[in-house]
This record gives sequence, structure tokens and C-alpha cells, in this order.
Amino acid sequence: MRFDKREFILKDGRRCVLRPAVPEDAEALIEYMKKTAGETPYLLRYPDEVQYTAEAERELLQRFLDDPGTVMLTAEVDGQLAGNSSIGGVGGKRKVRHRCSLAIALYQAYWGLGIGRAMIGYLTELARQIGYQQIELGVFADNARAAALYRKCGFTESGRVHRAYRLEDGSWHDEILMYREI
Ligand SMILES: CC(C)(COP(=O)(O)OP(=O)(O)OC[C@H]1O[C@@H](n2cnc3c(N)ncnc32)[C@H](O)[C@@H]1OP(=O)(O)O)[C@@H](O)C(=O)NCCC(=O)NCCS
Repeated sequence: MRFDKREFILKDGRRCVLRPAVPEDAEALIEYMKKTAGETPYLLRYPDEVQYTAEAERELLQRFLDDPGTVMLTAEVDGQLAGNSSIGGVGGKRKVRHRCSLAIALYQAYWGLGIGRAMIGYLTELARQIGYQQIELGVFADNARAAALYRKCGFTESGRVHRAYRLEDGSWHDEILMYREI
């Protein structure tokens, strides 16, 4: 969906802009997905699993803009992409259409500046506007930074998926499921 851009001041005094991702962001977002996948083990993909072409990514971003139930939000600092977060419906059937799921990541250089909190705050407002009544997400059980952020944003733990992730170093990681009624 389309929505207004919003600006706020980071903990280090710089200005951050939250705005809808548009097809022109395709190349920067592909680069961002590859780099962030290598900066943290807590995203679903490995860098080589980011295989979108610029054309496919542009089409996807256009579909997200046109879809009234999807929010694809980017954060920019000094005109540079810092991160991205999104919400999308869990399903269109009447029994589940009150639920949406949230995803979020930032380049490591922008962690700890308050961008995550601001993005979730804005996404929550937009989710309410759309008509969702619950936001859900899953997080690696050992991802303390993300779990702390979600708790501060009002999310509650609802369950745990045993050995949800297996990393290439052979380690297993549970997934914590969280939700927030809105
Ligand atoms: C998770 C992520 C999006 C958080 O965004 P962020 O902008 O760094 O988070 P914020 O700065 O807004 O807030 C983090 C909060 O958690 C706190 N925090 C950070 N690490 C913490 C820890 N180990 N234990 C407790 N609290 C912690 C911070 O102090 C901050 O609280 P405050 O706002 O009261 O100061 C970001 O670190 C990231 O992109 N990580 C890699 C990708 C990822 O893990 N994505 C989530 C997948 S589920």
C-alpha cells in the first residue's frame, strides 16, 4: 500500500525517513538482502539464496505498493538505505484475515539507533488502518536484541518451534512465536 513518509531523529542525532519501498529501490534492496543475510545468522536466507533479478524485484515492489493489505517500508538515513520492514496478511479467508505477520532487518551499521522501534511503531499504526487486529512474528530463540525490541513494542510470547532452524555450522535453533493484539 501507499502511505505517507515519516521522519524522526535517531539516537545519534541524524534524521531517518520511513517511506514506502518503490520499484526504483529494487537494486538497493537486493544488495541489502545479500549483505544483511551475511551480517547476522538470524535472517532466513543465506546470501547466495538471495536470487531475485532486479526486474523480478521491481515487479514485486509494485505489487506490494498496489496491495492494500501489504506494507513494505524502508528506512533511509542521509539518503542511504538503512533497513526494511514489512507486514502482510496471513491469509485472505474470513477466519484468519484479522492476522498479519511482521518482518524486519537493518544493516548492522544502523543497529541500536532506535530505527527498529520506530519502524514497528509506524507499521503498527498502518496495520490498524488496514483493519488487522493482531501482528505475529517468529524470532530465533537466541536473538536477544530482536526479542528485546519486540517485548518493548508490546509483543508477547505464544509458543516455540523446536529446531526450527538448522545452520550450516550444524547448530539447531528454536523459534519463538510472538504476537501483539492491536
Ligand atoms: C533486530 C533489529 C531489527 C533491531 O533493530 P534496532 O534498530 O537495532 O533496535 P532499536 O535500537 O530500535 O531497539 C532495540 C532495543 O533493544 C535493546 N537491546 C538491544 N540489545 C539488547 C539485548 N541483548 N538485551 C536486551 N535489550 C537489548 C536496546 O537497548 C533497545 O532498547 P531501547 O530503545 O529502550 O534503548 C536489528 O538489530 C537487526 O536488523 N538485526 C538483524 C536482523 C534481525 O535479527 N531481524 C529480526 C529477525 S526476527
